[in-house]
Amino acid sequence: MNQTDHLMRRPAFHFTPQRNWMNDPNGLVYDGGLWHLYYQYNPEGPDWGNMSWGHATSPDLQHWTEHPVALPYREGEQIFSGSIVATPSDVGSRLTAYYTSAYDDGHQAQSRASSTDGGFTWEIDPNNPILDRNTSAFRDPKVIRYTDAGGDVRWILLAVEADDRQVLFYSSTDLHTWEYQSSFGPLGVDGVVWECPDLIPLPVDGDPGDIRWVLLISANPVGEDPDPEGSSMSYLIGDFDGTTFTADSSELTRLDHGRDFYAGVTFDSAPAGETVMLGWMSNWSYAHEIPSAPWRGAMSLPRRLSLRTVGGSPRLIQQPPKFFQEQLVAADPAARMSLAQPIHMALSGHSLMELQWDPNTTGRLRLTLQGDAESEVVIVHSPETGALSVSRQGAAVQAVHAAFPSTSTVALDVLAPVRLLLSLDGPLLELFINDGEATASNLVVLGSGPVTARLETGRPGPVSVRLCDVPETQTPARHSLPGSSPARL
Ligand code: FRU
Repeated sequence: MNQTDHLMRRPAFHFTPQRNWMNDPNGLVYDGGLWHLYYQYNPEGPDWGNMSWGHATSPDLQHWTEHPVALPYREGEQIFSGSIVATPSDVGSRLTAYYTSAYDDGHQAQSRASSTDGGFTWEIDPNNPILDRNTSAFRDPKVIRYTDAGGDVRWILLAVEADDRQVLFYSSTDLHTWEYQSSFGPLGVDGVVWECPDLIPLPVDGDPGDIRWVLLISANPVGEDPDPEGSSMSYLIGDFDGTTFTADSSELTRLDHGRDFYAGVTFDSAPAGETVMLGWMSNWSYAHEIPSAPWRGAMSLPRRLSLRTVGGSPRLIQQPPKFFQEQLVAADPAARMSLAQPIHMALSGHSLMELQWDPNTTGRLRLTLQGDAESEVVIVHSPETGALSVSRQGAAVQAVHAAFPSTSTVALDVLAPVRLLLSLDGPLLELFINDGEATASNLVVLGSGPVTARLETGRPGPVSVRLCDVPETQTPARHSLPGSSPARL
């Protein structure tokens, strides 16, 4: 056993490679009944380097199978981030991958590969690179479909000029020839590079007559004095006419309020018209120091995206995958309890939880998670400010990296009831607040054993609690609430 295994155990219902370094999700596509996840991978070690596309598949977004490396790095060339689209062909479907060739001479351009065996073997286009500006930070191609008013479909490739904080749009009718259309940016703070863009059409409040386009941007601070908060994702809502993206506002909205959600992009061809995003749960400011072994790097839960009108304007909503709610509902019915004193709940550490409370009756709510490492996670909701904060703290947290101890804060409406969904899977903690109106994703250091959750409120008002441990198999285990015999109302 490696000496760090006791700090972060391998997640059970999130994807992590069995060994070695992983960063961004790449080439997300649903094809042949499988969700394909390719990812930035070093096949030879626990640090960034030799970048290649690793490959995993899942039938249900919960159970993942790792496959051999799909696109290995080549002499003089690393395979950086990109995307895949599925199109019909004589032999089922054809998958076309677009990725960045990061050449050893420092130049970056877009290349292509295709697969006709369901994404397991790939043929590299002999004409690569297929899109080249002779620049050094042109990367992360994402190809999407665009249907114009006449019903004609064309392809749009967006990629960043990372150092310029620009997204460039190209168009194609055949996935071969690409024509430059427009650029978007720069905007927002400088001192960052833009990476891994995506552009998604979504109906507002489910109305197919009101489609808005959401531009996703990952930004990573660079330079002399990089922001200690490190990498984060933002989005802009606007319109896309097949040529140009026009944002409703020049304000970037933060996509996730935690420290560890980056490079999130969506699946091509997801069934039932759903939009599903996966992100990398780490942060470039300390990713190289994460004390997990022999794997390093994890994906988030897949998130279902939509737009909902909140306070008069559309907001990006991120909800957990369906298995989250199914497993919770199949577990014990919600316990409504009045907390006259703190209660303690035993979790396996691969667990889901739902809490609902009304701060008008409960006052302040505090949930503390503790395992066998010298650290704790403290989630506090303050009724006076509406702020919900998540802190990771303690000696084991400080030991990871100087930038690792953190408090992430989400601003909620003052004195409004709160519904919190919490997913804890080894070191991966994700919060989904008020039906996906806000999320906060953080790596945490809770050790190798079970976890105790301590819940307390300022006043003994009712809190509704549901929890379950996620089993290795499909059948959810029943879970009872141990602790100080809470009153069931
Ligand atoms: C984002 C990123 C991408 C790049 C890849 C390299 O995390 O920097 O811009 O393609 O990682 O691994």
